[in-house]
Amino acid sequence: MKALTGVRILDFTHVQSGPTCTQLLGWLGADVIKVERPGVGDATRKQLVDIEGADSLYFTMLNHNKRSLTLNTKNETGKQVLERLIKECDVMVENFAPGALDRMGFSWSKIQELNPRMIMASVKGFGPGPYEDCKVYENVAQCAGGAASTTGFLDGPPLVTGAQIGDSGTGLNLALGIVAALYQRVQTGRGQKVLAPMQDGVLNLCRVKLRDQQRLLQGPLKEYSQYSDGIEFGEATPRAGNDSGGGQPGRILKCKGWETDPNAYTYFITQAAVWKNICDVIGKPEWKEDPDYATPPARLPRLNEVFDAIEQWTMTKTKYEVMDICNPLDIPVGPILSMKELSEEASLRETGTVVEVDHPERGAYLTVGCPIKMSDSQAEVTRAPLLGEHTDEILKDVLGYSEDDIFAIKESGAV
Ligand code: COA
Repeated sequence: MKALTGVRILDFTHVQSGPTCTQLLGWLGADVIKVERPGVGDATRKQLVDIEGADSLYFTMLNHNKRSLTLNTKNETGKQVLERLIKECDVMVENFAPGALDRMGFSWSKIQELNPRMIMASVKGFGPGPYEDCKVYENVAQCAGGAASTTGFLDGPPLVTGAQIGDSGTGLNLALGIVAALYQRVQTGRGQKVLAPMQDGVLNLCRVKLRDQQRLLQGPLKEYSQYSDGIEFGEATPRAGNDSGGGQPGRILKCKGWETDPNAYTYFITQAAVWKNICDVIGKPEWKEDPDYATPPARLPRLNEVFDAIEQWTMTKTKYEVMDICNPLDIPVGPILSMKELSEEASLRETGTVVEVDHPERGAYLTVGCPIKMSDSQAEVTRAPLLGEHTDEILKDVLGYSEDDIFAIKESGAV
């Protein structure tokens, strides 16, 4: 028994945002039926292929714990099969381009007519407004949601981040909306529409930058390096490099080996509560009582000097030594870990955050496991399905078609 045992998901998602959502629901125990176009499937199956003939890692890493059913929903028999699926499922999830479901003949009113308990969940690039008809991919969402304008260095162009906050981030929002709608349905008996726009999701994650936009009206943002550098602020929240977004100033600093190792760096936070410990560690005990350095407001105009001094110390240590020394003193620091280091980290394997999965076409590969840990609903990662691997099984067991029916459905070209 898992948290979502008994919940059946009709998964019309593709690429990254929608599949992130349904994979999470699968980890939590839902029965996820992924509907794919016959002979084609989710486009990512054949994108960024690393092993000829095998489904890509892009696809497999987003589609664990799902069953694959091929179905041409533009074919008449295919539409009839889809109608039966809608009646049998609790949740329908999709992230087609705007209007695609309506064009397919499955508007929200038609879906409600078929199954009033259905929860219809969608990811779109934008919510209602001037851009609602636009197609959107990850980086477009990062740009339109405010992340790019506030990421990067002051003297460089806007930057996108490696974390897929537009796609995977929005998928997580959608999953939460679905679970909340399932809970509400227990009280009302009715389904509802759940919409998670990518722009909204990115902006939500950038709230500290919207905070700073309003703080700018009251004067310069004193914790930004720009203030220490004496550079005037403009009208919009600027890019702030690696400055901390919170009230405790922090930066990325070089560690021993930085000349040759691109990840020999640490994040270092000058938390006010442990300032004296920091002064002792970096060999500046005189800063503990000096009125120019002793309090957070006094340090704000001198942050560059403060972090230069800390970096002189971190450069004499590896990023792990910095952690070993600072942690017992309650100084918040964090090593810059590479994907190589993370993939080899034993503790992440033990908690199931990184898992090795076996696949019939590609052999063993690494993937991420469920990032949410529940004491009574443990997520086991099962491999992503091959295209149409469960078509017969679903037609028979979920929809109750006979062998003859299935033969006729196949003859029609619907699956
Ligand atoms: N049987 C028959 N037709 C199917 C089908 C099936 N099983 N599954 C999909 N299709 C059709 C759709 O109905 C659509 O047809 P239409 O254009 O005639 O209406 C067509 O396939 C293509 O779907 P679409 O969603 O437009 O794919 P795309 O590759 O052109 O665009 C995106 C991809 C991601 C840009 C777009 O889907 C989108 O903007 N989605 C919303 C935002 C989003 O989630 N973006 C992040 C992706 S990670």
